[in-house]
Amino acid sequence: MDWKVTDREATGDVMLLPLWQSKSKAPHNSLNGLPRSTISNVKSALSGQRFNGKIGSTLSIWSDNCRVVLIGMGEVDELTHKTARDAGAKAIAGLSKKDGTDLTVRFTTGWNLEGMKWFVEGMMLRDYAFLKYRKKDREEAEEKGNWNLTIQASERYLTDLKADMKIVAARVDGVHLARDLGNEPPNHLYPMAYAERAQNWANGKKNVKVEVYDWERLQKEDMGGLINVGKGSSRKPCMVIFTVNPNVDPKAQVPCIVGKGITFDTGGISLKPGASMDEMKYDMHGAATVFGLMYALQASGHKGRVHGIACLAENMPSAEAYRPGDVIPTYSGKTIEVLNTDAEGRNVLADGLWKSGELNPAYVVDLATLTGAVVVALGHEATGLWSNNDDLQERIHKAGNEEDEIAWKMPLLPAFEKEMTGSKIADVRNLGKSRWGGSCTAAAFLKQFVPPRDFDEDNDQIPWAHLDIAGTAWGADTNAMVSHGATGIHVRTLHRLITQASSSN
Ligand code: BES
Ligand code: MN
Ligand code: ZN
Repeated sequence: MDWKVTDREATGDVMLLPLWQSKSKAPHNSLNGLPRSTISNVKSALSGQRFNGKIGSTLSIWSDNCRVVLIGMGEVDELTHKTARDAGAKAIAGLSKKDGTDLTVRFTTGWNLEGMKWFVEGMMLRDYAFLKYRKKDREEAEEKGNWNLTIQASERYLTDLKADMKIVAARVDGVHLARDLGNEPPNHLYPMAYAERAQNWANGKKNVKVEVYDWERLQKEDMGGLINVGKGSSRKPCMVIFTVNPNVDPKAQVPCIVGKGITFDTGGISLKPGASMDEMKYDMHGAATVFGLMYALQASGHKGRVHGIACLAENMPSAEAYRPGDVIPTYSGKTIEVLNTDAEGRNVLADGLWKSGELNPAYVVDLATLTGAVVVALGHEATGLWSNNDDLQERIHKAGNEEDEIAWKMPLLPAFEKEMTGSKIADVRNLGKSRWGGSCTAAAFLKQFVPPRDFDEDNDQIPWAHLDIAGTAWGADTNAMVSHGATGIHVRTLHRLITQASSSN
């Protein structure tokens, strides 16, 4: 979507007019520049109560030169970020480029800066389709081109709105990149293909650095979690380490975000059943979010240093694959008893989390499509959020709420840790003793690989939070921001967390 911000003047092919409830008159300035016939149609629709402005209501008014879509926003003092984003998303979803691509959204009396940003963000987020492998649709979309959006507002908002919209658009691009990565089929996006994309992105940018630990390097580093999960595939595993603003405050403690990147999860020797196995191409969405976030931070001009680590592997059964019963080493020096090769995400994250400690992070957040159990617990409505630090957990929860990306607090109980460290043959087992609390035992496993500060056992663990996005990375039909496929979940949550936007936003 191309966009610009202007005063309320000319109109395009289509004009969106988001209006408040129970107003029988069009607000001051709302009809500037419209053809006379359209003005009288809009006025009569409002006075005759054909359109009442209730949330969710819309009315399309056609005339010769311009189509006007009235969008009900409910009561002005009841607007929330969710109603505004959802209305923007639904508005764009209801349009067709057949009616022209010059689109205007005109904000009138009662709209403030935040509200306008939310509405347009919803429009932009929803304006996405993955057409790469659909020849006809792709060609048609290329021919029609992007939406050409004019955002119209009262003059006093124009300067701020222009500046803020740049950041909104950068974040949306990051979300769309994460979706692109998530939606790529697993034969196209394998571990080293992700690494190449990351390197291509970094190429020529002075303020980002991407380092790739390939198969040989993983051996040198003894990253046994990644090696063992990935060795069953002919597409070998790797670790990708991102840094945004690598030269800023090299001594300062800054955030580090770690992502699970299983480019396809067959389950390995503990093979998954066939139904919906194709969806396991999304099993790298944690790593997709890491990349999307790095993109968004760089593109929005974030000044601080931030680290990202993507743990990439393909989990395949083969003569080379790791087995149930194996005891494997990890980067931390701790060993894992593999009881189920399908619990592979935690094995690769063990190496990523331990690696994060070397970057002296202020805090570490990992994202992973880790367990089916979290989908049983929370459905597709919320991500599970575990943490060893109440303050960090609360900050992530708050940031998620403000972005309409709910991260629900879940418990890290000592009993779960005991369960996962109860192996008779290794330091940690990769499977709970029963299937109950499966997402909590997985989180308790990860905690064993969060390093103490400076790797000194006398120090506390680094503040860490774990986001299990198995239910939110794809599949929510209640998520108005996306029609189907990968969601790009938590790019915005983490962008907000890291850029420390004030909680009133
Ligand atoms: N990637 C899956 C988790 C998953 C399942 C995500 C369904 C989204 C939808 C993960 O690697 C996995 O297989 N987890 C197992 C763990 C079990 C073996 C302890 C699971 O959830 O069944
Ligand atoms: Mn698995
Ligand atoms: Zn998996």
